[in-house]
Amino acid sequence: MLDLARQALANAHAPYSRFRVGACVRAASGRLYAGCNVENVSYPVTQCAEASAIGAMVAAGDRRIVEAVIVTEGAEPCPPCGRCRQQLAEFASPDTRLHLCGPEGVRVTATLGELLPMAFGPNTLKRPT
Ligand code: THU
Repeated sequence: MLDLARQALANAHAPYSRFRVGACVRAASGRLYAGCNVENVSYPVTQCAEASAIGAMVAAGDRRIVEAVIVTEGAEPCPPCGRCRQQLAEFASPDTRLHLCGPEGVRVTATLGELLPMAFGPNTLKRPT
């Protein structure tokens, strides 16, 4: 997973921040999907690496994430941004492990539940009948 995430990072389109990110998700099927950040000159249009990996997974027909790797080149491990946490929550579980990596390997492992407590989920949408 780290290799695929690193390969994706190498293809990141990050000319504005110069902060390249690679991600790889492992689906319940065992298949791996990688993605990178894709920046845009209109900055908010930027797509994060996690979203790219999730998009590849969904397009291929998988729907459950059982593990994810996020790799950056910075000095600090890169925790997924809030939007990515919510996007991961759509297809992962609170106990899904997210490995925050540098090029050399895993720096921090955390569960999605640790990073996104009190998540907005399908139960939140339920209304009294
Ligand atoms: N970025 C990601 O790809 N994933 C995250 O979870 C955090 C931020 C990207 C977006 C942008 O291209 C760059 O990192 C700097 O914010």
